[in-house]
Amino acid sequence: MLKQAVLDKLNDQLAKEAYSAYLYYSMVGYFESVNLKGFANWMLIQAQEEMTHMHKLFNYINDRGAQAVLQQVAQPPHTWDSVEACVAETYEHECMISEAINECVTLAIKENDHPTNTMLQWFVTEQVEEEANADDLLQKVRMIGDNSSGLYLLDNELSRRTFVNETEG
Ligand code: FEO
Repeated sequence: MLKQAVLDKLNDQLAKEAYSAYLYYSMVGYFESVNLKGFANWMLIQAQEEMTHMHKLFNYINDRGAQAVLQQVAQPPHTWDSVEACVAETYEHECMISEAINECVTLAIKENDHPTNTMLQWFVTEQVEEEANADDLLQKVRMIGDNSSGLYLLDNELSRRTFVNETEG
């Protein structure tokens, strides 16, 4: 059985993952609006991944005999000053999510909740990849700067990203 404090924290994290999906879907719309279909594809997969993160937490809460309580999801921004600003927000957001996951782990340990700690270790590992992916994209965008040929090539590269549900298996 989950302690109330752990349940509350997991519900909060579930809401953060939902907002992440919302934010990245909004970025899909932004990139579509500036005709960068490869960036839009990259963000769409990012949004899909966030839905799986939410689902993983939802299932875990149910498995522990508790009920996931969904919270209000804030409206994300829908436009950015530049491609770089949008990708920078992605990286900063992932760093914030990593901190939030770390706080969940800290609480699970404090409450002596080993199953929750074990489940959360998947997210700890995932966040290393999430930050690295966003940072890699940000560095490439910064390297390209105002070079439209470079942006065109990167957009092509990003169109090849495919969705894999990493929460399974
Ligand atoms: Fe679910 Fe991108 O963190």
